[in-house]
Parts: sequence; C-alpha cells; structure tokens
Amino acid sequence: MDELDYNTCNATFRSLTDQQRLMAEETSRQIGAGADLELTSYGCGFGMFELELIARVPRRTVWFQGVDTNGEAVARLRAELAGLPKVRGHRVFTASMSDITDRRIAATEYGLFVQSLCYLGADDGMAVLKEARNRHRRLFVAVTPLNRLNGPFADSLAQQGVVRPLFAQTLAEELTRFGMGFMSVTVDAEIVVPVSEPSQRLLEFLTFARHQPWSGGTSRAELLDAVSELGTRAAGEIRVPHPVELFTIR
Ligand SMILES: C[S@@+](CC[C@H](N)C(=O)[O-])C[C@H]1O[C@@H](n2cnc3c(N)ncnc32)[C@H](O)[C@@H]1O
Repeated sequence: MDELDYNTCNATFRSLTDQQRLMAEETSRQIGAGADLELTSYGCGFGMFELELIARVPRRTVWFQGVDTNGEAVARLRAELAGLPKVRGHRVFTASMSDITDRRIAATEYGLFVQSLCYLGADDGMAVLKEARNRHRRLFVAVTPLNRLNGPFADSLAQQGVVRPLFAQTLAEELTRFGMGFMSVTVDAEIVVPVSEPSQRLLEFLTFARHQPWSGGTSRAELLDAVSELGTRAAGEIRVPHPVELFTIR
C-alpha cells in the first residue's frame, strides 16, 4: 500500500465496524474469569484487537507475547503494553509466524490468530497451526469467510503466490482433513458507513477494504458509490455484512 498508510486505513476500517468489539466479547467469554492470562498473538500488528481483549478479559493480570513481520507495528504495540498496569510482562518481536521453529516463542496457555492466518496459504498456515498447537493449550483463530468484501484481498494474495489462503471455509476443510478437532461460532458483525462520512475516511475505508491503493474516482460521490456497491444503502447509512468465524482448537 503506497498512497495511504496501512495502519491508518486499517484503523478507519475498524472504527466503522462492530466486528472487533463482538469478537473481543466472544473470545473474552470463552477464556473466562481467573487470576492471570498468558497469551501469544501471531500477526499481532499494533494490537488493535489484542489491546481490546486485554482490557475486556476478566483476568487480573496478563502476560503477553506477540509476533508480527511489521517492525513499526511491533514497536508501537510494545510502547502501548508498557503503559498498561494490567500487563505484568510482555515480549513482542518482529518475525514471521511462518518461522515455525523460532525458539524465541515461549509456550503460553492461549495462542491467538486474529485476521492474520489468511495471509498464509493452506500448506504454510496448517504447518504454523500444528506447531502452535504444541505450544499452547488452546488456539483461537478469527478469520472471515471469503466473500464480496474481501475478494480483492484474496486476488492480491493470489498475485503474491499465496495458494488457498486460510479464509474460514478453507480453514474448516483443512482442520477436518488433518483430524484436528475444532468448534466454531459465527460472529455476525457488520460495517456501518454513514453517508455523511468525510471523503478522506471514505478513501481510507475503501483502500483497506480492497487491500490495495484505491484506483477508482476520488470525488465524494464516486467514493460513496463505491462503498454502496459493497452493501445496501438506507436511512443515511450504508450497511455491509462483515461476519467473522471464531475457531477454537484444542
Ligand atoms: C489485519 S492485521 C491484524 C492485526 C491484529 N491481530 C489485530 O487484529 O488488530 C494482520 C497482521 O498480520 C501480519 N502478518 C501477515 N503475515 C504475517 C506473517 N507471515 N507473520 C507474522 N505476521 C504476519 C500483518 O503484518 C498484520 O499486522
């Protein structure tokens, strides 16, 4: 992404959807109450989801470990974690989760892949999951089904040579094929874009929704039309279905 910063676009996109809050509520409910939580996030980014989960989860303290290929995001998350009294310790490093033998990754009770496993093709992704299952008692994988909204993202992964990325349908097939037991729940989230949204935010939203620089028109009307194509427009809002599947693997 060159024309606009990925993190800014991701933040705008997330601010327009209830998906993260609903996912954090569901994950938090499944983790449940207790004293301390030890958590590893693969593809943690700058922790938009992870920080919300840490805040919500009914645990007194959290030890957090994270891995991401984006060094800037890693530095930002480290700084955020350092300021949180609930976090009793953390280690976040720049690495690919595909380096499955990375000895720096310590065993923790929970392993988390939130919107990150779909960056990998089925072969790599399943190898990462199998290794992660040896390190963690329980894995959570949150991933969207392949649909109209993320079709352009899937196209861009295909152009990068990613074969059968692990969107929800493919992940369920692969888990079944390898006999890995799982449960999954659908979190019925949606995106609501007020038609009054400023042009810059519409542009940021579209850039992230398509996961590539926006190449369409840039007048406000053209941007609004492009957002409308993704959902339905009524009562001053455009509503786009944005479900996510939360897999629990033991
Ligand atoms: C959509 S973001 C999700 C970030 C975070 N989990 C959240 O929900 O707020 C996906 C993240 O996966 C990271 N990622 C993609 N491929 C990766 C890989 N092979 N190893 C580690 N991180 C990766 C990206 O850098 C990006 O930060």
